[in-house]
Amino acid sequence: MATTVAFDVYGTLIDTSGVISALEKVIGGQAAAMSELWRQKQLEYSFRRGLMQNYRDFSVCTRQALDYACEFLGVDISPADKGRLMEGYKVLPAYADVEEGLARLKDSGVRMFAFSNGRAEDVRGLLANAGIEGHFEGVVSVDDVRSFKPNPAVYAHFLRQAGASGSESWLVSGNPFDVIGAMSAGMRGAWVKRSPRAVFDPWEFEPTVTVGGLGELHDALAGERGRS
Ligand code: LAC
Repeated sequence: MATTVAFDVYGTLIDTSGVISALEKVIGGQAAAMSELWRQKQLEYSFRRGLMQNYRDFSVCTRQALDYACEFLGVDISPADKGRLMEGYKVLPAYADVEEGLARLKDSGVRMFAFSNGRAEDVRGLLANAGIEGHFEGVVSVDDVRSFKPNPAVYAHFLRQAGASGSESWLVSGNPFDVIGAMSAGMRGAWVKRSPRAVFDPWEFEPTVTVGGLGELHDALAGERGRS
């Protein structure tokens, strides 16, 4: 059976800190802090909505997190500028190692999907804008099951959509909570640790493999195939 790989999107293929330059034009020096808080709150809102079973799609989490971050940091951004920032979130850049890493893995016959909290149309737009959509067999969104990562139901949904089994499938993510969620749901987990300062949650889970960028993924997965 071919190996199946689910790539997380925001924070793995696509760099959410790409909003910093747009934020700098609007709020200057606080842009980096704002970008970080915006992302943290976006994820927190998705976790909470998943637990509460009160689903609104990921773009709602993103927009409400932006409103929170503005309020918390005491910065006033006009509705028009907020609208522009939200539009900017649809055209974020891919990380520099992505294109080559994906191409190499695809050449080895691995089945590749994008798997995200984002709505399928938003994810398709992002991948197309970054010029990497052609590498993927499909896009799977949690939106179909109206919940968010790391609910085990969304990883099960991915496996059903891909027609794959957990033991033959990998979740590749820069987000430790996502790697742990996938492993807890029976998949294998590859953590993309792009920064030496990134910390993996000290739970009872360890990533099956850890890579410094997608360029290392081909060899890391081949090594694991050799072992199993
Ligand atoms: C995603 C989140 C984790 O793309 O940002 O699914």
